[in-house]
Amino acid sequence: MSTLLQITSSITGDNSQSTALSNEFVARWKTQHPDGKVVLRDLAAEAVPHLDGARLGALFTPADKRTPAQQAVVDYSDELINELRNADVIVLGAPLYNFGMPSTLKAYFDHIARAGVTFRYTANGPEGLLPDVPVYVFATRGGHYAGGPADWQLTTFLNFVGFKQVETIYAEGLALGDDSKAKGINAAQERINQLTAA
Ligand SMILES: Cc1cc2nc3c(=O)[nH]c(=O)nc-3n(C[C@H](O)[C@H](O)[C@H](O)COP(=O)(O)O)c2cc1C
Repeated sequence: MSTLLQITSSITGDNSQSTALSNEFVARWKTQHPDGKVVLRDLAAEAVPHLDGARLGALFTPADKRTPAQQAVVDYSDELINELRNADVIVLGAPLYNFGMPSTLKAYFDHIARAGVTFRYTANGPEGLLPDVPVYVFATRGGHYAGGPADWQLTTFLNFVGFKQVETIYAEGLALGDDSKAKGINAAQERINQLTAA
C-alpha cells in the first residue's frame, strides 16, 4: 500500500491557495491509488514549536542521559521524521510569507534536520539519509519569485536530507489582480494535470 504524506503550512485555512492546489493533487493521487493512505501534517493546525536552546540541547543529549522532558522532545522529532520515512510520495504546501517559508514550516524543518538521523557528513560532503521519494512542492506567491532564494531555501533543505526528486509547482502573481491570479492558478492546475496524467 502506497502512502502519501501531505504537509500544509498556510495560515489562511479555507482561503489557502497552496492547500487547495495540494488538495487537488492529493485527490487525483487518491483516484489513482484507491488503496493508498494519505497522512496529513497540518502545520497551522498543530504548530511545531520553535527550536530553542532547550530543544536543541535535548536533540544533542545521548539517549541514556536524557531527562523525560528531553526524551519527549526527541520522540516528537522522531515522529515527524518517521512520517517522512514512511511516505512513498510527499506533497508540501509552501506559501511565500515575507520572502520566506512560513515560520511553522521552518520550525518543522528545524526538527527534521538531525545529524546521524536524517543527514551525515562524509569525506565527500553531506549525505541525506531519508529515502529519496518524490516531493511535490506547491509554491504560492503574491508576486513572481520562481528560481530565486525562496526556492533555494526549500529545495536546498529537501535535497540535504535526501530528497533529490523535488518538483516545484508554482502559482505566482496571485496578488497582482484577478487576471494574474487566474493565470497563476491555471498554470499550477495544468502542471497538476500533467503530473497526474495516467
Ligand atoms: C503574511 C503574509 C506574507 C506574505 N508575503 C509575501 C511576500 O513576501 N511575497 C509575495 O509575493 N507574496 C506574499 N504574500 C502573498 C502570499 O504568498 C499569497 O497570498 C499566497 O497565496 C499564500 O499562499 P496561501 O494562500 O496558501 O496561504 C504574503 C501573504 C501573507 C498572508
